[in-house]
Amino acid sequence: MQIFLDSTDTKVIADLASTGLVDGVTTNPTLIAKAGRPMLEVIAEICDLVPGPISAEVAATTADAMIAEGQKLAGIAPNVVVKIPLTRDGLIACAAFANEGISTNVTLCFSPTQALLAAKAGATFVSPFIGRLDDYGFDGMDLIRDIRTIYDNFGYETEILAASVRNVAHVKDAAIVGADVVTIPPAVFGDLFKHPLTDKGLDQFLKDWAGTGQSIL
Ligand code: E4P
Repeated sequence: MQIFLDSTDTKVIADLASTGLVDGVTTNPTLIAKAGRPMLEVIAEICDLVPGPISAEVAATTADAMIAEGQKLAGIAPNVVVKIPLTRDGLIACAAFANEGISTNVTLCFSPTQALLAAKAGATFVSPFIGRLDDYGFDGMDLIRDIRTIYDNFGYETEILAASVRNVAHVKDAAIVGADVVTIPPAVFGDLFKHPLTDKGLDQFLKDWAGTGQSIL
């Protein structure tokens, strides 16, 4: 499973990318607002930091305007993925980008049938929002499961990008039910490394090793 970071914090992205475990980055208008810097500059920096797919979201709501914005965003770097909302206009723009060979991430997906339409429109990625569904009393993971079944039934190649991830359990479950990608906030990425028994076990090993008086080098 690919792991993307859901962030516009270039310092944090650079640090976490140095682990070699970050496959891409997603951004959205809220995260761009948080960065407090011009979007094109932030996206260009992220594209330099991480060679994988970098999602940059359009702000327009009509197909023609989304296409114009997406073409500009796609011109920033070859690894830009144009992020488009899952609306009727968004899917028209998505199909246009597919014809032009521009990669897309169809976002704000909350139902299996929306995901079906995104695949038919030729989306490269579809982003079901797990956490926001959980917030409303649904099980976000059911959505990933349903999309997986539908895509496998018909052989759609659109990749399922589990988004709105809030915790390690979301990452585990998304991997189990067959998401192709998970995009996670930096704090959750840090949590993936942790287990109290790892810390406890390492403490003991280091103590015992020190007791031997040996050194490997
Ligand atoms: C990523 O593509 C999404 O924009 C993001 O995961 C949304 O997360 P949120 O629901 O925590 O804002």
